[in-house]
Amino acid sequence: MTDQPVGTARFTIDPDFALGTVDPRLYGTFVEHMGRCVYTGIHEPDHETADEHGFRGDVSRLVRELGTGLVRYPGGNFVSGYHWEDGIGPAADRPRRLDLAWRSIETNQVGTDEFLGWARRQGVEPMMAVNLGTRGIDAARALVEYCNIPGGTAWSDLRVKNGVREPHGVRLWCLGNEMDGPWQTGHTTAREYGRLAAEAGKSMHQVDPSIELVACGSSNARMPTFGEWERQVLHETYDEADYLSLHAYYEETGGDRASFLASGAQMDAYISDVVSTADHVRAVRRSTKRMKLSFDEWNVWYQSRFPGERALPLEERPRLIEDTYSVTDAAVVGSLLMTLLRHADRVAVACLAQLVNVIGPIRSEPGGPSWRQTTFHPFALTARHARGTVLRTEVSGPVIETEKHGPVQALDTVSTLDPESGELTVLAVNRHQEQSLRLSAALRGLSAPYRVTEHLQIADPDPDAANTEAEPDRVVPRPVRDTAVSAEGELEAVLPPVSWSVIRLTPEV
Ligand code: AHR
Repeated sequence: MTDQPVGTARFTIDPDFALGTVDPRLYGTFVEHMGRCVYTGIHEPDHETADEHGFRGDVSRLVRELGTGLVRYPGGNFVSGYHWEDGIGPAADRPRRLDLAWRSIETNQVGTDEFLGWARRQGVEPMMAVNLGTRGIDAARALVEYCNIPGGTAWSDLRVKNGVREPHGVRLWCLGNEMDGPWQTGHTTAREYGRLAAEAGKSMHQVDPSIELVACGSSNARMPTFGEWERQVLHETYDEADYLSLHAYYEETGGDRASFLASGAQMDAYISDVVSTADHVRAVRRSTKRMKLSFDEWNVWYQSRFPGERALPLEERPRLIEDTYSVTDAAVVGSLLMTLLRHADRVAVACLAQLVNVIGPIRSEPGGPSWRQTTFHPFALTARHARGTVLRTEVSGPVIETEKHGPVQALDTVSTLDPESGELTVLAVNRHQEQSLRLSAALRGLSAPYRVTEHLQIADPDPDAANTEAEPDRVVPRPVRDTAVSAEGELEAVLPPVSWSVIRLTPEV
């Protein structure tokens, strides 16, 4: 490590370079019946902070602070074997089922009404998935009827009987999950899945024409069927679907931290490839509809540490994939979020997977405390401040060679301008591992001179530093004092190695 900056990364911020509008749905997360995400995650009736519905008050507070606008539910792989009817009605009568996706015992004490009630009280939009693995059209349309029809039909009257008088009004629905993956219950071909998704979607739309549907894209860009899967699925579902899904998880492998820190480059290429495929299908179909994308699972996940589903003990709420995140992971999560923002013109929905305990930004102990992982902070600050219009920026500056992604800019950045408040937000990651980086942004075409109101940073002399139950605030965002706009109208900042920053500016009026 040296005190000498690696160089200066320059770019221009200009409101005329508008790229898209930030949809609050980009700040989505995911609650799956997996491990301890639901049970002892969001829900723990015996916990000292539990509300009258059995949900943990401490976790609910952190979820609000995280600023997530949307939560996907109930899976994930779990949904492909789920009977949603098991999770409604009197809790004492609900069956204990074997969940084959995660070889766990599902008690069904939390189901559709409990989750949707929690989401409403939290002020987040729910995104529900239907089971197209072991079930199909009938179960899917019945669930939409149960959730969205006010009453006077068998399923809607059952919801009212179960104590939920007003319809849940769920707008966004996933047509299954990762159906291209051999691990998925009911895994199938693109053509077969596409046909089933189109027919299920048609029936769901017949129940409630106002709902929006997400068709399954590939489970990740490394799947052997990637590209062709998207083409065939879209060909079948183009009229019913509003979104196509993408999923991606990143981890450091073989000690190659430089590539890991540049994971955004892979996500960027993946999104561009899916956009191209979707637009190809649009052209072939002579359609005027532009398919939007739903990146409904993304995160850092140390998958190489996961033993595989078959090695799991058959338990209730087992401890599954409770990865502890470092400063480096936080920089990567912040950078992936920036990549999503840079594609705000096509990516309209995105979900950090998952919300609590299971690769979550929030951790909780049964009967114990809850705390923020390092990754919590870039997500929460981005969700709070990166609002309004995303501005296109072109960086020129020091370049880092990576094994997996070739040359990448040391500076990863994105800017947003809130048209209402006039607030300008600059997000920045220095991907360099040893040296700091100078940031210099020319502010152009703005209505007034701007001044820096706040610069918060995640950085640490130890890039592996993490938050734990014993030390929950080891890594927190810290204010940076010297960041300012120069007399020449340039925003000047210094970014330490492996750091994430949010710089907020307001007009001087
Ligand atoms: O988020 C964990 C799992 O990852 C989800 O259940 C599945 O959709 C993906 O493979």
